[in-house]
Amino acid sequence: MSHFEAIKISDDIYWVGAIDWELRNFHGYQTSRGSTYNAFLIVDERPTLIDAVKAPFLDEMLARVASVIDPSKIDVVVSNHAEMDHSGGLPRLLERVAPSTVLASPNGVKALQAHFHWDKAIQAVKDGSTLSLGKNTLRFVETKMIHWPDSMFSYVEEQGVLFSNDAFGMHLASTERFVDELDQAVTDVEAAKYYANIILPLSPIVGKLLERLPKLGFDLKLIAPDHGPLWRQDLQRIIGAYARWAEQRPTRKAVLVYDTMWHSTESMAHVIAEGIAKGGARPVLMPLSGSHRSDIATEILDAGALLVGSPTINNQLYPTVADAISYLKGLNRKNLVGAAFGSYGWNAKAVPLLDAALTDMGVQLLGEGLRVNYVPDAEALAACRALGERVAARLQENQA
Ligand code: FEO
Repeated sequence: MSHFEAIKISDDIYWVGAIDWELRNFHGYQTSRGSTYNAFLIVDERPTLIDAVKAPFLDEMLARVASVIDPSKIDVVVSNHAEMDHSGGLPRLLERVAPSTVLASPNGVKALQAHFHWDKAIQAVKDGSTLSLGKNTLRFVETKMIHWPDSMFSYVEEQGVLFSNDAFGMHLASTERFVDELDQAVTDVEAAKYYANIILPLSPIVGKLLERLPKLGFDLKLIAPDHGPLWRQDLQRIIGAYARWAEQRPTRKAVLVYDTMWHSTESMAHVIAEGIAKGGARPVLMPLSGSHRSDIATEILDAGALLVGSPTINNQLYPTVADAISYLKGLNRKNLVGAAFGSYGWNAKAVPLLDAALTDMGVQLLGEGLRVNYVPDAEALAACRALGERVAARLQENQA
């Protein structure tokens, strides 16, 4: 007897995904609360599976399907996205179940073939095309680059259920299947962390998708992403959050990301923070000795300034700073002002490297970075405080 069961989420529709309680690293993103790989079963004349799960979780998914129907009855498989967290289980699934039809977007067909090198026929569905399953009709909407070029949404016309794949999700393992069953403080943070670490670089595309959404004529009752709990109440909460995050409007929050060798760069950070607060903005310090890059990304999601501090080591950035800079550059947060700072011994290399890196990231620098030889004296600390006050003044101007 299996201990895994499906959960009904709408008429004829069941959640049959898997819970990954152990996941703590999703391609560099620290998933402190695990995740789920959501898959959905539509029980109709043509029983249909929407998405699969990561390869090691296939048996859990099949056991959940089997609690509703014999898995071999699945006739249609829709792959909304080829990334392995949703497609990894597909090869074994297709052998076991042998559905008559496997569907993906045109890019999805190519991506699945490039992953699995199948001779299996996968049919491409065009943007806006529909498929009748019996009582229910699926409509497919291409959502290229949310998250990959192959990504698409599938929508059940009769029930207002949107299978949104990576969009509107969060990495959060739970036995509860709906956001409204969980602590809102937790789901708000995890949805923001997910956006900051996965969706943020795609913000211009999110903006266009949100403009397109009302024109699609959806009567949305349920948003069912492929990670974390589903949205069935106050859908505007997550749609509005996506609109706000995609806009990347600066706030009066300044994030200071730094590491330190002998506490000098750290002392600079503390006094810059005092200046920021004195100037009426809010400093958030993220020392890299204990802050994960994905939590830094979350803090930056709604910031207005980014300041990065590094000592010089072997003529380079401190390694943790290089890691953070590389990661944040990829996330491409717009509309930030900022500055570099750091201590050096005999070769002040880190701060110019940071000035260049921040400029390359599109951060508008408030001047050349602040360098201190060995240990900051009173004059150097006064310069740090003044830098903080300048940052705050600029953030105030941006708000005006
Ligand atoms: Fe959840 Fe882009 O995969």
